[in-house]
Amino acid sequence: MKKTNVLILFSLLLWGCSQSKNNVEARIDDLLSKMTLKEKIGQMNQLTGTGLSTDMTDCIRSGEVGSILNEVDVKTVNELQRIAVEESRLGIPLIFARDVIHGYKTIFPIPLGQAASWNKELVEEGARIAAKEATSVGIRWTFAPMVDVTRDPRWGRIAESCGEDPYLTSVMGAAMVKGFQGNDLSEPRSMGACAKHFAGYGAAESGKDYNTTWIPEIQLRETFLPPFKAALDAGVASFMCSFNDINGVPSSGNEFLNKQILRNEWKYDGLLVSDWASIQQMISHGVCSDLKDAAKKAANACVDMDMMGFAYISHLEELVKSGEISEKQIDEAVRNILRMKFRLGLFDQPYTKEDTTVFYATESLEKAKQAAIEGTILLKNDNNLLPLNDKIKSVAVIGPLSDAPSDQLGTWVFDGEPERSITPLQAIKDTYGSKLKIIAEKGLNYSREISEDGIKKSVEAAKKSDVVLLFVGEEAILSGEAHCRADISLPGAQSKLLSELKKTGKPVVLIVMAGRPLTIEKEVNQADGVLYAFHGGTMAGPALIDLIFGKAVPSGKLPITIPRMVGQIPIYYSHKMTGRPAENICLIDNIPVGAPQTSLGNTSFHLDAGDSPLFPFGYGLSYTTFEYSKPTLSKNTISEGDSIIVECSIKNTGKLDGKEVVQLYVRDLVGSLARPIRELKGFEKIFIKAGETKKVSFTLKPKYLAFWIADMTKKAEPGKFEVWISNDSQTGVPVKFELK
Ligand code: GLC
Repeated sequence: MKKTNVLILFSLLLWGCSQSKNNVEARIDDLLSKMTLKEKIGQMNQLTGTGLSTDMTDCIRSGEVGSILNEVDVKTVNELQRIAVEESRLGIPLIFARDVIHGYKTIFPIPLGQAASWNKELVEEGARIAAKEATSVGIRWTFAPMVDVTRDPRWGRIAESCGEDPYLTSVMGAAMVKGFQGNDLSEPRSMGACAKHFAGYGAAESGKDYNTTWIPEIQLRETFLPPFKAALDAGVASFMCSFNDINGVPSSGNEFLNKQILRNEWKYDGLLVSDWASIQQMISHGVCSDLKDAAKKAANACVDMDMMGFAYISHLEELVKSGEISEKQIDEAVRNILRMKFRLGLFDQPYTKEDTTVFYATESLEKAKQAAIEGTILLKNDNNLLPLNDKIKSVAVIGPLSDAPSDQLGTWVFDGEPERSITPLQAIKDTYGSKLKIIAEKGLNYSREISEDGIKKSVEAAKKSDVVLLFVGEEAILSGEAHCRADISLPGAQSKLLSELKKTGKPVVLIVMAGRPLTIEKEVNQADGVLYAFHGGTMAGPALIDLIFGKAVPSGKLPITIPRMVGQIPIYYSHKMTGRPAENICLIDNIPVGAPQTSLGNTSFHLDAGDSPLFPFGYGLSYTTFEYSKPTLSKNTISEGDSIIVECSIKNTGKLDGKEVVQLYVRDLVGSLARPIRELKGFEKIFIKAGETKKVSFTLKPKYLAFWIADMTKKAEPGKFEVWISNDSQTGVPVKFELK
């Protein structure tokens, strides 16, 4: 096609987009001009579904509700929508919402497990499948992705996060937004995504949910905000406030966060919804005297919609009439709400075409299995025990998670059906039942069980087998919102179970299915092979069995550091060097009795843990091995507007084909502020055949080196840097370059 034609086409496309944007704004203006103050405030009210109750249908007819969450019966959804469209004065459609966090019916691994795949395409596909299933019952808005960075595995909601790193979380969060929203948000199979929880929720003190946070602005901008900006750049339709306060200011009343950053700096024109009653909870935070005060504070903080807080619907009208809140502020919020409804195409297609055939489609289940495979991390494989080979004739399948169809789905699963789960026990029977002798003895009925009565039979089963597959971890209820743990070791008598099995002398493969990193140093030392699977979803069983028997090769990498003990938290890879980096570590059991005060060399480590984690961010083994060359640079100095190509050759030196996550890290050696010892700036997951070598290259630009400095500007400072291309956050050979 001639250049001129391309130009004409491109300008037509641009014109078309601007036209449709203008068209939406014009339609909003027109509708707004017809709305009463009551009707405007009604749009700002979100209620949880109560079926076709009179309260709800009356509310809809009188225009007192703008969105309903948790209504998933499609006939009810269509009837409620019909009432809104045909029986309310202006016929403004409702948005139906639900927490579709990691699948609707076909459940994918928890987001932490999906992040462990480091495969953004796969994560996007998972979100797309979730959208297709959820929209088929009328859900057009999901409260996901959760892009809260966290470094605290005590926090139950780490399960919903993408881990400790802002860059990885940004990439995965953006992928989920694209998956949920598709290429056209107005498509019936697309649903609006929601970047949550804005912001700093993952910094809850002591890892206790809803707890206060103390986040200096520089850290807020450096660590917690980037994934939200990435979601915004990916076109996310909405944001959600977080429950926590930041430095004493609850997010639902935080003008700096919601006005200064989200609206003024980022120019966001999407919808900001509170979290469940988070506006009302500003009373218990102690920053509002009553519900009217909370409504005022939230409205001044640009929160557009009140989820189940009843603050707006109860008090905004009087606040406007008294002049404490202007109608202009109300109009601004209603614009954001109507804009989302127009973008979703709800004014043109308000009703849902029922199509439950999309549930559990074969290709969806296959994708969920692939996500569970790629989200599982091989942590240990002594003597190449894994994958099991055909010398194995009998297998003992043991542990509370070996056959736990509900628990393997993980937290935040409202609509997934445990009866559709395929557990590891089921999967091994289905696949190897005719070839292997399978002896199943759970030992413990659930993860917290302390009774050791069942252990004896498991030990007997182990003695009769060639290898033990021990499935341990957490019940789903120990993970997720408000489910925080101060002790993150294996619950119940699981550790005792492993010790007893170990005494049989049989090789033990430990498979951990949990909603967080667990402090399993002792157990890892006892096991011969360790697979960390998080909660893997509907297809966790087939995925794990394929990995254990070699039909699949592990490629997962840790999206979160695994500590040795809970007392090390927070422990994460991108820490500062400190003035006394750990050296000459003398652990507590090696300290001579009567050691003099200064004999241990005063540097930064714990006497009883040292300074290293059990496993670092980015770590994960394969059944093959990969050898990295020292990175090469296209040049050794760059300046603004310039870039450096960093290259590395990776050779598959093993006997099996495999995928490898090649990671790019950078360190700023001297900054106006102390800088992390490494920061992830890129990654690529590549497939390399046995014996093959592949070259990977990354382009490094000065903007990737920029950071927030004391005057609250973001810039790259001239100086020396180190760059790694490595297979985790602790390995690799650095190469130096200079930014002029
Ligand atoms: C919950 C969660 C939030 C969720 C909302 C609606 O309390 O904090 O993530 O989207 O309420 O269920």
